[in-house]
Amino acid sequence: MKLVVGNFKMNLNDSEIKDYINYFKNEDCSNVIFAPTSIYLKDFVDNGFKVSSQDVAFASKGAYTGDISASQLKSIGVNYSIVGHSERRKYHQDDLYVNNKIKCLLEEKIFAILCIGETKEERDSNLTIDILKKEIDEAFFTIDSNLLSNVTIAYEPIWSIGTGVIPTNLDIYNTVKMIKEYVYDKYKINIKVLYGGSVNNDCINELEKIDNIDGYLVGGCSIKKEEFNRLIKSVG
Ligand code: PGA
Repeated sequence: MKLVVGNFKMNLNDSEIKDYINYFKNEDCSNVIFAPTSIYLKDFVDNGFKVSSQDVAFASKGAYTGDISASQLKSIGVNYSIVGHSERRKYHQDDLYVNNKIKCLLEEKIFAILCIGETKEERDSNLTIDILKKEIDEAFFTIDSNLLSNVTIAYEPIWSIGTGVIPTNLDIYNTVKMIKEYVYDKYKINIKVLYGGSVNNDCINELEKIDNIDGYLVGGCSIKKEEFNRLIKSVG
């Protein structure tokens, strides 16, 4: 069964979250991980859902105002964390911290969902493969291969996030194949790869024809409960 991760980003308020949780309480969410804004993580944990943070601090504890450490996440029952999302890389310089963040997560036995992806300009300049390899190498630097089995990659072309524009199935297939082969050759692990970028009910049936992806990272569609549920049910 493929994995579906719902990244709410900075959306939904307290009453909307309660409503959302009530709705999903009666639904089969066995292959779903919810990644709400951090102040709502515990609401999801307490209701028995699989839960991911959207980010984590790059250090294990100390004077880092505003940050949340991996051990703090673990202590409330969060077992997954997105790391290196392109919005974090863009607004919070996360390119610099992805490696440390993954190390902090793995130390706490939190599963890391590492986002990688190229911009439109990089794609047009035929740099996609170089960029993805660079992001993987930066993220995995000096991490033991045994531990890397607790990392999943989310391939998210940046130009596809929130735009409604997605690569062709063949493009996605080829890029995911390249990522898996690269990680296997260099790090000796069979990594799982999710696709993310404008995944919604209009394209999910087409995406489901791609046979080498292991799931989806969903943004916009995940904050609309009925739509997200419909999408979840379309994923095999
Ligand atoms: P989107 O976002 O589904 O709204 O394109 C995906 C993501 O940023 O993870």
